[in-house]
Amino acid sequence: MSTNKLIIFDTTMRDGEQSPGASMTKDEKLRIARQLERMKVDVIEAGFPAASNGDFEAVRAVAGVIRDSIVAGLCRANDKDIQRGIDALQGSRGPWRIHTFLATSPLHMKMKLRMTPDQVYEQAILAVKYAKKACPDVEFSPEDASRSEPDFLCRVIEAVIKEGATTINIPDTVGYAVPEQFGEMIKGLRSRIPNSDKAVWSVHCHNDLGMAVANSLAAVRIGGARQIECTMNGLGERAGNTSLEEVVMALRTRKDFFGLETRINTKEIVPASRLVSQITGFVVQPNKAVVGANAFAHASGIHQDGVLKARETYEIMTAEDVGWAANKIVLGKLSGRTAFKQRLKELGIELESDDLYNKAFQRFKDLADKKSEIFDEDLQALVSQEAGISSNEVWGLVSMSQGSGTTDKPHASVVLKKNGADVKAESKGDGPVDATFKAIESVAKSGAELLLFSVNAVTQGTESQGEVTVRLSKGGRIVNGVGADTDIVVASAKAYIGALNKLESKNERVNPQYQVQH
Ligand code: KIV
Ligand code: ZN
Repeated sequence: MSTNKLIIFDTTMRDGEQSPGASMTKDEKLRIARQLERMKVDVIEAGFPAASNGDFEAVRAVAGVIRDSIVAGLCRANDKDIQRGIDALQGSRGPWRIHTFLATSPLHMKMKLRMTPDQVYEQAILAVKYAKKACPDVEFSPEDASRSEPDFLCRVIEAVIKEGATTINIPDTVGYAVPEQFGEMIKGLRSRIPNSDKAVWSVHCHNDLGMAVANSLAAVRIGGARQIECTMNGLGERAGNTSLEEVVMALRTRKDFFGLETRINTKEIVPASRLVSQITGFVVQPNKAVVGANAFAHASGIHQDGVLKARETYEIMTAEDVGWAANKIVLGKLSGRTAFKQRLKELGIELESDDLYNKAFQRFKDLADKKSEIFDEDLQALVSQEAGISSNEVWGLVSMSQGSGTTDKPHASVVLKKNGADVKAESKGDGPVDATFKAIESVAKSGAELLLFSVNAVTQGTESQGEVTVRLSKGGRIVNGVGADTDIVVASAKAYIGALNKLESKNERVNPQYQVQH
């Protein structure tokens, strides 16, 4: 099947979620899915339905709202997992896909699966047969393919295509491949397997050696693959996966070389990148290609001069093309409820109830009192924070103050609400944030370990809100709290309290990687 259309398969909410700490709630997945649909990705892998009840519900919820992208669920190659995937997806609003995988490398078969190659061959066939009974669109991945014996790989792939697999995805599971070799490998498989033209060929690369994007592009160019699996911001297990924004912009910018097209609305790339970063707490490095804050910044005088004379001197794509709109004031103090709701709608944000809209609107008004100009990024931050707040949370922030300087030992006092009652706490610390966290912890006594504290300016200028992510770990659970405020110490307290509430919540999902044994 050779065509000039390249399918973009996004796995931010499955492989991306496997990054420790990137675990997402159902509502967060819904928000990301809507943005991916708006960006026009072809396939959204929404999760791993058998991993946990939380992920099952999240996949089902995503499938229930997405219409314009195929929604996929990952399943191990056994009837139970696949049935769970079918149950999560069969009520889908639009098309859906079962993605099943089984390792084929000698190392994985012997040491992890403890199965012989013949057993793996049989199980792969049975899995595809089972999936195919309920779903016409079945993808099969021979895990660790890049370290598998080519003869055995050919045997398994030929058999699963015969059973009806419509996509064959070749994973470079541990990021071992190098571009030319990987491209040749795909080419070799396609030419040796007699029924290879009955399936779409896909690749799924990891970035352990920093070559995931290069490997994916080589598989397309040399090997004829027509689907790339990728994630926003390159999120994913260990060093991550192929970055969606990089492959999409490489294909577009170098269309002269690749001759391929994707459906992606590139103007939605930066908003998608920001949303994923806000939700997961994984900050995008400033020099990250396409979506980093410096990706279009020209610092040296020679470059600035060149760009002013002719943009193309130092830019191969425009910032606007990938959605870097110059900060636009969208709302202000006098904006009403309707304008607020309309702008959220334009940003693809739908809140589930009028009550949530009212609460978000009230927060917006509070923010507009502190900050005269409200940008899209402020609204996104406000909703990210709102989405992390449930109606029956244990902890709330009533008020706080703190002092610091060059002479005083930093100190903080906070008034928290615990299940409706006020509790006061004070502490000293190494800095105002440290003192605030210590004060909160002196009453919360969570004993959680702080894994990450990050602060990001939401927009430009000193008036900007600071958006803080706090990642806490306790008893094998890792949760993120997000807080935004024009005062970064207040934002930090909100983020810490948000994370504490998630730790208290029974509904928060556990990252699947701690549960699923491959
Ligand atoms: O990296 C990998 O092998 C995977 C498969 C499940 C596609 O994520
Ligand atoms: Zn992977």
